[in-house]
Amino acid sequence: MSFKVNGRTVEVDADPDAPLLYVLRNDLDFKGSRFGCGTGHCGACTVLIDGHAVQSCTTPLWSVSSAPNPEILTIEGLIADPIGALVREAFLDEQAAQCGYCINGIIVSVTALLKRIPNPSQAEILEALSRHLCRCGSHVRILRAVDSAIRMLTP
Ligand code: FES
Ligand code: FES
Repeated sequence: MSFKVNGRTVEVDADPDAPLLYVLRNDLDFKGSRFGCGTGHCGACTVLIDGHAVQSCTTPLWSVSSAPNPEILTIEGLIADPIGALVREAFLDEQAAQCGYCINGIIVSVTALLKRIPNPSQAEILEALSRHLCRCGSHVRILRAVDSAIRMLTP
């Protein structure tokens, strides 16, 4: 099966029912997408597929590779994306992470949101974050980082 990850076409020989997360981490060595719950509840595994934030632990490989020209962006690929880089900078500036386990997935979702809506409402921000859990309770700092990214994007 072949598809694009972080701008590069990759070939994988894996079980079509395998979760995309396992393929990204174990076959392609993109370890930035994290395994949290494995059941679609925590958001730690979030990646972008064609610009949409998707939980890769509940996305089977076949559903990706059967789409026409699918393009996957993981947290590693976001470094090369101008909005992704800006979001990452805002999270660093605000020291939004405590243990950091949830943060990669959150940065991916916030990037997807700001690509779609550069100046989102509070309700739109909360909606985008609603599929993410942070057990360290860093929510206030995470929201501050999102506000800071929006200010950087729309001065
Ligand atoms: S590991 Fe995918 S949502 Fe928790
Ligand atoms: S910073 Fe630890 S889970 Fe969110």
